[in-house]
Amino acid sequence: MQDFVYYTPTEVVFGRESEERIVPLLKKYGAGKVLIHYGGGSAVRSGLIPKIKAMLDSAGIPWAELGGVVPNPHLSLVYEGIELCKREGVDFILAVGGGSVIDSAKGIAYGICYAGDVWDFFDGKAVPAASAPVGVVLTIPASGSEMSDSCVLTNTEKGQKRGCNSNFCRCRFAVMNPERTFTLPPYQTACGVTDIMMHSMERYFTPDSPMAITDALCEALIRDVRITGERLMSDPENYELRASIMWAGSLAHNGLTGCGARFDFGTHRLEHELSTLFGVAHGAGLAALWCHWAEYVMPVNPERFRNFAVRVMDVPDGPAAAQQGIEAMRAFYRRIGMPVSIPELIGRKATEEEISILADRCSRGGTFAVGNFKVLHREEMLDIYHKANE
Ligand code: NZQ
Ligand code: ZN
Repeated sequence: MQDFVYYTPTEVVFGRESEERIVPLLKKYGAGKVLIHYGGGSAVRSGLIPKIKAMLDSAGIPWAELGGVVPNPHLSLVYEGIELCKREGVDFILAVGGGSVIDSAKGIAYGICYAGDVWDFFDGKAVPAASAPVGVVLTIPASGSEMSDSCVLTNTEKGQKRGCNSNFCRCRFAVMNPERTFTLPPYQTACGVTDIMMHSMERYFTPDSPMAITDALCEALIRDVRITGERLMSDPENYELRASIMWAGSLAHNGLTGCGARFDFGTHRLEHELSTLFGVAHGAGLAALWCHWAEYVMPVNPERFRNFAVRVMDVPDGPAAAQQGIEAMRAFYRRIGMPVSIPELIGRKATEEEISILADRCSRGGTFAVGNFKVLHREEMLDIYHKANE
């Protein structure tokens, strides 16, 4: 078991009436002027943004707004947000949306407190020393960004999607009303379910022997999201199912399911190159890669895959259980409408040149390795991308 620090300062307000708490939360966390930050319009159409503006107006809290965050959020809008906040004297960012909006908000919050280029934190030139406060009204459970220490941005000019991890960007509060997720299209629901499971799978497949309690929590969470997520696909307005997935999304990525073990996150690193090059949804990219990654790395520790198969995928124990667990996951992805290969993800095979670009970018020109369960260098990345492209 590895030593660890477990730090989750985010105040979670969960349930049907949770939006009523936005104003008291903003006051509690010292908001002077608020930037209301949102995506391509779903939160406007649902009435959430107008409702929040009205609540802030009646409470006398000044606000500015910046919409237009795209999935796999762009650095360029973060720059725009930093300028706007400095100009308008904004000191609190309220993200209304999912992982893309939250990460864009975190990027702006870092940038307000930094004299240099905020991208410095993403390409390793500098380490954050401060961030403006961020609060979240979550509309899609998936990324876990509402409780994570992570911020993932895409620099379209450089063709890079990079993450920055620090406790400074952890959200002050997260307001979660499962009813707000009823409007999610089935594809986004399935992407979210995939990503939530993957955040704990990336922790489960570790080179360490974590504490038994961590293993048990991790197995229970992934198994429950698998079962609940599949039921949700045919019952999208079921509050209990939506609530269960929403809370699982936060727990899967707030550190709880990885205490005492080094995480892997190799599939995530490989996927970030897919979403950068092809503009695909993060969860779908993960589904397209995971089974290929799993078959490739299983020989490192087949026992771990056997436990996963039996305890998470409900496969009967036996000599072939480890492989059957991967097959069961592939079948699950298919049933919820997720792709299980690159051709299924992008509608065609990737070209050899594209595969090279993916591996070059992921390995930063052959200078960088990913993963821990099995460390993957450029050649191994190429193998996995090729397998996924068959
Ligand atoms: O833009 P709008 O119109 O709001 O539509 C969004 C978007 O098109 C839509 N949507 C959101 N809530 C909705 C809704 N549609 C109908 N009803 C609702 N209630 O869903 C689409 C996807 O939204 P997005 O925020 O992109 O999804 P997600 O939460 O999956 O976030 C993905 C981003 O998070 C990053 C990913 O890489 C990707 O950039 N991640 C961030 C992490 C973190 N910070 O800890 C960890 C993750 O591993 C991940 O890398
Ligand atoms: Zn993810």
